[in-house]
Amino acid sequence: MAESPLSVRRIDRADWAALRTIRLEALADAPQAFGSTLDGATRLSARQWRAKVTTSQYFVAERGRAVVGMASGGFNEQRPGTHWLYGMYVTPAERGSLAAKLLVRVVVDWARGDGGDELYLHVASEAPRARAFYEKTGFAVTGEPFTMERDPNVTMYTMKKSIANEFRVARVDAAEFYELRRRVLRENDATKSVEDPRDREPTAIHFAGLLDDRVVVSASFYPTSAPVREDLTSYQLRFMAVDFDAQGHGYGAQVLAVAEEALRDAGAEQLWANARDSALGFYTATGWEIITDSANISAETQLPHHKIAKLLDRETNAASG
Ligand SMILES: CC(C)(COP(=O)(O)OP(=O)(O)OC[C@H]1O[C@@H](n2cnc3c(N)ncnc32)[C@H](O)[C@@H]1OP(=O)(O)O)[C@@H](O)C(=O)NCCC(=O)NCCS
Repeated sequence: MAESPLSVRRIDRADWAALRTIRLEALADAPQAFGSTLDGATRLSARQWRAKVTTSQYFVAERGRAVVGMASGGFNEQRPGTHWLYGMYVTPAERGSLAAKLLVRVVVDWARGDGGDELYLHVASEAPRARAFYEKTGFAVTGEPFTMERDPNVTMYTMKKSIANEFRVARVDAAEFYELRRRVLRENDATKSVEDPRDREPTAIHFAGLLDDRVVVSASFYPTSAPVREDLTSYQLRFMAVDFDAQGHGYGAQVLAVAEEALRDAGAEQLWANARDSALGFYTATGWEIITDSANISAETQLPHHKIAKLLDRETNAASG
């Protein structure tokens, strides 16, 4: 018979008895790993367990309908905006399966959803398997070790992991940009065009900034001679947009830096664009120059624009290796 799949979920009041069962198992199986004791937990009433589930965030891992692990999430009052991972436990038969990894993932998702960018935990010197697991999951020891309150013979370590969304730059097809271009650059107006006739030409190059797998930055480049230095091999930048909730993090500049490097390698000597005036500060801060007497009102947006250009310095590139 095929094995039932593993799943993780946050539990609610109705599940308090399942939480009690797995938590008592954890405290009996690995008493050295936890600050609480089996004795103390056994004495909690049903009302106290229900209150725990209501006021804190508990997650369980299940194989089919059997609870095989648990974890909990907490707010780190000492470092506002960061969170705790508590009470990690996986039943012996499921150690080495994906259960522990899924439990960390669900707590990470919860902490991220609360705006967190770091997750902390305490691990006991007596739990080397737990420490090895945390290390391979991306946690690293931080700060000084301290002794466990309940048992001064046990050394405790604080570990932390960055859970900020991973940002990366990648080449994509123009079609992946249309929704973002429309929302950020065309006030979500479905009647306005968000396509360039050259979008699908093989010489057009589209760079996306991705947060996890969501496109949050678009930048498209088309080989076209520039309004200045017409002798140079130039690319026009169009549809530079950073999604509203991703603005102010330097993502736009990172995409342009990667794009410049790639275009320089492809033989580009200069970039140019017709930029809306509200964005000129962004461009001048990253080495673009405003072309004299280039003020214009864009036909597409009716907004004031200036033409801008940036020389791609070959010597700097060669010198930096
Ligand atoms: C901590 C826990 C949730 C981790 O889950 P897990 O499924 O055992 O984790 P994994 O097997 O994926 O990872 C453990 C790693 O430690 C290694 N390991 C096993 N025993 C070890 C030991 N004695 N010392 C060091 N490393 C050990 C494993 O080989 C594995 O590494 P690998 O994947 O490279 O082989 C689980 O072991 C557990 O519930 N332990 C008891 C409770 C506990 O200690 N909780 C932590 C409270 S902070």
